[in-house]
Amino acid sequence: MSADGRAAARIDLGAIERNCARLPKPLCAVVKANGYGHGSVSAAEAALAGGAEWLAVATADEAAELRAAGIGGHLLVMGALTKDDLGVALDADADVVAWTEEIAEAAPRVHVKLDTGMGRLGTKDRHLALRLAARPNAVGLMSHFATADERGDEFFNAQLDAFRAFVDEVGRDDLIVHAANSAAALRDPASHFDMVRCGVAIYGLDPFQDDPANNNLEPALSLQSWVASIRRLEAGEGVGYGHTWRADEPTWLATVPIGYGDGWRRGLTNNADVLIRGRRHPTVGAVSMDNVTVALGDDTDVELGDEVVLIGLQGEERILAEEVARRLGTINYEVTTGLLARVRREPFR
Ligand SMILES: Cc1ncc(COP(=O)(O)O)c(C=O)c1O
Repeated sequence: MSADGRAAARIDLGAIERNCARLPKPLCAVVKANGYGHGSVSAAEAALAGGAEWLAVATADEAAELRAAGIGGHLLVMGALTKDDLGVALDADADVVAWTEEIAEAAPRVHVKLDTGMGRLGTKDRHLALRLAARPNAVGLMSHFATADERGDEFFNAQLDAFRAFVDEVGRDDLIVHAANSAAALRDPASHFDMVRCGVAIYGLDPFQDDPANNNLEPALSLQSWVASIRRLEAGEGVGYGHTWRADEPTWLATVPIGYGDGWRRGLTNNADVLIRGRRHPTVGAVSMDNVTVALGDDTDVELGDEVVLIGLQGEERILAEEVARRLGTINYEVTTGLLARVRREPFR
């Protein structure tokens, strides 16, 4: 990696395409939040190549961005919209989600959202939902699961039953009915209805925070940096802000130019490994804004310029986003979505 490269997220578009091809169909690929950090436009293209028929985003601006890049086809804006947002979404020829009369009256194509227990967006008022669903501009019915990623959890079934009863009561067979996120799509075919709405799985991230290979998913994102400096520490010498780590024996130390200013969170202080020359090494000392430091041991063959893998494969070793998430006490979604713009995205096939 070149000296001005700092850190790069390499995005395997073939992996996104293959993940989409393996997921249930019809598939709506969720590419909001910059494609969960993978780059929304290239992720959208890969998803369509993998057989997705719909794309979904959270905001009107995200829809406009896709259209500006020449992405065609069915597009759904799932988030809450101001009047101005609605104009932007309609200019992008996107469908929108409605749970109020106001939006249902203002948009040509709406997906009526019933809140069956997520408690966030959508209406809990069945009568209102039935009224909206009877309108000629209703093209879809939807809901969203709160606990699909908790295997065996009963609330998922309660939501599914409530949504199915609503769909039956609406009684129209010209509407696209959709509810399943990635976890639901992988967990229960009964949740598929007319389309699944998968986000995290298309990127090869496991919705259950386990190994993506369990569900035949291939991680698309890897995160690399490089060894920018090497120094020798004597026993007792400290590293980084606050000297949160001290060498208890002489060791070589590598400095790697990625930090919380890139989205490599400070919560990983003294709590992450990286791969160099196919081997795991612990990062030591506080994660700073622009750098992390890696203990290489007393005897090392690591050299300036060596590639450092923070997420991904190197040789026989790998670090999953799920591992990083576990160390941070969060979920893989936040790890990839949290990588900041300073991390160069390098899509490849
Ligand atoms: C309404 C809605 N549907 C589908 C998804 C996709 O979920 P997942 O990434 O878990 O597949 C999301 C993402 O949060 C969402 O908000």
